[in-house]
Amino acid sequence: MEFLGSLRRSHYSSELTLKDIDSTVTVMGWVHKRRDLGGLIFFDLRDVKGIIQIVVHPEQTEVFSKAEKVRNEFVIAVTGTLSPRSEGNINHNMLTGEVEVIASALRILNDTLPLPIQIDGVAMADEDLRLTYRYLDLRRPYLQQILITRAKVTSLMRRFLDRAGFYEIETPMLMKSTPEGARDYLVPSRVHPGKFYALPQSPQIFKQLLMIAGFDRYYQIARCFRDEDLRADRQPEFTQLDIELSFVTQDDIFELVEKLMAEIFAEIKGIKLPLPFPRMKYSEAMRRFGCDKPDLRFGLELVDFSALLKESEFQVFKNCLAAGGVIKALTIPGGAAWSRKQQDALVELSRHVGGKGVAFAKVSENGLEAGISKFLSANEAKAMIAAAQAKPGDLLAIVADSMQICSKVLAYLRNYLAAELKLYDSQDLAFCWITDFPLFVPSEDKEGWEPAHHMFSLPKEEHIPWLDEPDKIGDIHGQLYDLVCNGMEISSGSIRCHRYDLQKKIFDILGFSEKELNRRFGFFLDALKYGTPPHGGIAPGLDRLIMILTQADSIRDVIAFPKTLQATDLMNQAPSEVDETQWQELHLKFIE
Ligand code: AMO
Repeated sequence: MEFLGSLRRSHYSSELTLKDIDSTVTVMGWVHKRRDLGGLIFFDLRDVKGIIQIVVHPEQTEVFSKAEKVRNEFVIAVTGTLSPRSEGNINHNMLTGEVEVIASALRILNDTLPLPIQIDGVAMADEDLRLTYRYLDLRRPYLQQILITRAKVTSLMRRFLDRAGFYEIETPMLMKSTPEGARDYLVPSRVHPGKFYALPQSPQIFKQLLMIAGFDRYYQIARCFRDEDLRADRQPEFTQLDIELSFVTQDDIFELVEKLMAEIFAEIKGIKLPLPFPRMKYSEAMRRFGCDKPDLRFGLELVDFSALLKESEFQVFKNCLAAGGVIKALTIPGGAAWSRKQQDALVELSRHVGGKGVAFAKVSENGLEAGISKFLSANEAKAMIAAAQAKPGDLLAIVADSMQICSKVLAYLRNYLAAELKLYDSQDLAFCWITDFPLFVPSEDKEGWEPAHHMFSLPKEEHIPWLDEPDKIGDIHGQLYDLVCNGMEISSGSIRCHRYDLQKKIFDILGFSEKELNRRFGFFLDALKYGTPPHGGIAPGLDRLIMILTQADSIRDVIAFPKTLQATDLMNQAPSEVDETQWQELHLKFIE
């Protein structure tokens, strides 16, 4: 092995094209693939920007004997002449497929152990192994391209917001808990026995304090920490483009984010997004799609049979309606031909999300057939077919349950069916603002109220008087909004409660005692008393946005060093035990 010495790279591999023919070049990187073709040795040399083919001729005896020792993933530097490939050897699938470097010098800068995971080719190692050797996994061009896109996006965000007069300001990582609805990650204080910092679930309170301080337009590419159940689009630490502005309305924030998204998609994907994005009220989204983040790349809307079936003799429907439930359905195009097994898969999925099952009825020329059709009158069947706009050959998948469960099950099945039936193209993009969320939702124990988003949002102006009317609390709409794309919530925000009296009322409705309020938010409530400007903001989730831009299925693919679904880092084994002395210093004892 040799040292780099004074040798320097002249080009990244992707920069080498026909225009540089006959020049002497030096490239450096990893041996992606090595082929020994009897007389000649070929390498595909990989660097961060691409791959270039290297050819070593046997006449170059010294180079050739070194090349014979080189294996995949060795680190090498090659100097040589850039040459055109002969007609038959041009590789149209490669950016540099028309050229190759004829090596005149080769340095082996490092060798490698046999790799535990394969970098090239299709035989992908399982994800746990890849996460254990993440630094090797990250050599894969697929992941490198995603992280490079991510870097381009954050750079673009900074330029865009800088132009729009925003200041990037950092806020603390060690702070007092900010409630965003998840559990906090806590950091014990060494200096103050028994006291803890919380890692920010978001910079929410700080960005509002910056508005009170008068900065007018703030942003931060902010890391957030939430100890919650993880999913394909959730990580315990993730990144937001956190934004806050003063003296604005919801429309101003929509316009800003729409322009930002348009610029990102134009620059990164060359796509012109149609602006403005459509808007849909929360109640409409729930009614038509059963969820507040509908995937609008396809139709497959929910249909409500409750009113049509109010006289139904079918015991299951009767009981459901009597208990205040609803009967809603999806029309599966061509589903009448489905096998029992395909139907059973839907029943299984419904149980997976808390449902009790799915009832089926096939649509024929004569009405409804099979499944539960025998429990329905001809008139009911006719009305259902008309309401569902179903055609002969379709299948009705019907769920009777509480509104909440029914929506959850059908929204889940809707996404599943759309993927199964290929109702959309993976390139499609469907953005939509969801607005007019309720400000409060009943708490889990149904005894009180919880904020639908977070507790710092302003009600719609016309609903403000209802803060004083206990039976109207559930009807209050907040100036809350989400930006949804392809069924994923990619941003969330609100116009904030900038008046102390209103914020105090909201805290009262949420059931905070005076003592609790002062302990947790006293400083913030105080701050609101000192001339707080009207303000609002939003926080696009960077990881999710990158998932959409790169069509990554898993959030782990868009984060350099992600956690598993069990919130562990398989590479460095975090979380891990700490020394006894660290426990002592932090005044902590472990209770088994
Ligand atoms: P919210 O909690 O809705 O709002 O978060 C804003 C956006 O952040 C993304 N996001 C996540 N991404 C990955 N993993 C997670 N665990 C995760 N949780 C949230 C989503 C979401 O839309 N302070 C408010 C924003 C505001 O009101 O301005 C907030 O944090 O894309």
